[in-house]
Amino acid sequence: MDDGYITEDGRKIGGVVMEMKNITLRFGGVVAIKDISFDIREGEIRAIIGPNGAGKSSMLNVISGFYIPSEGEVFYKGSKRPQMRPFEVARQGIARTFQNIALFEGMSVLDNVMTGRLNHMQSNLFQQALWSGKAEREETANREVAEKVIDFLEIQHIRKTPVSRLPYGLKKRVELARALAAEPQLLLLDEPMAGMNVEEKEDMCRFILDVNDEFGTTICLIEHDMGVVMDLSDRVVVMDYGKKIGDGTPNEVRNNQEVIDAYLGVSHD
Ligand SMILES: Nc1ncnc2c1ncn2[C@@H]1O[C@H](COP(=O)(O)OP(=O)(O)O)[C@@H](O)[C@H]1O
Ligand SMILES: [Mg+2]
Repeated sequence: MDDGYITEDGRKIGGVVMEMKNITLRFGGVVAIKDISFDIREGEIRAIIGPNGAGKSSMLNVISGFYIPSEGEVFYKGSKRPQMRPFEVARQGIARTFQNIALFEGMSVLDNVMTGRLNHMQSNLFQQALWSGKAEREETANREVAEKVIDFLEIQHIRKTPVSRLPYGLKKRVELARALAAEPQLLLLDEPMAGMNVEEKEDMCRFILDVNDEFGTTICLIEHDMGVVMDLSDRVVVMDYGKKIGDGTPNEVRNNQEVIDAYLGVSHD
């Protein structure tokens, strides 16, 4: 297992990229995460599922470095991760989308996607203000990456449209585009399909699979819809009331009685 494994659909998964060790997270008296351990392996699509309030978003925030766990340790690429600021996380190759869309509504799709390149900017504000050669070359290179991502996600036709004018499903896709523009090694998606209609969900599913396939991006996603999880993910962590109650392939967790009782037995939304 240490060198990886072969998925049910025959893909090669590599070694551990991210390891969560005995993570506990408290907000005052609320214990959002209780002593959870699991890992994420290179190239895999790892899902976190569970009822509302289970602690999934909190966990994604620990993985992204946005929350510092109250107890436990996070290992990333083999070393213990110190407390980091958001831009440092981005430089480590981690990008994310949010449960509630976080885009600049008044800006165009292209400009929003360009903000995903901020962590790749080396020139300083002075060089940019003077529009120096370095700043210009950087701008061109960054624009090329942004345009490539826009093509990949099939949103060329709306590249100049202000985000505020887009339907929900496309906004979610623009948010994915911005995350991809950072060229992440680890992509974190918080309920990428929530609130979408069937067609939008199918599109998003396809794009997530394509990203993993085309760029080899490791993906950790939170999802409610068990059907989607079955289709997409290689391994699943199941959370309930801040605890981990299951961890395995979709088929393994689907047949786990504790998971059936806690998660599949109750209705959502
Ligand atoms: N910033 C916060 N401050 C206080 N409590 C929080 C905060 N974020 C989450 N919680 C609490 O932690 C628990 C888990 O929330 P969350 O991680 O959002 O669950 P999920 O994403 O699975 O729905 C909930 O009880 C929630 O109210
Ligand atoms: Mg959540």
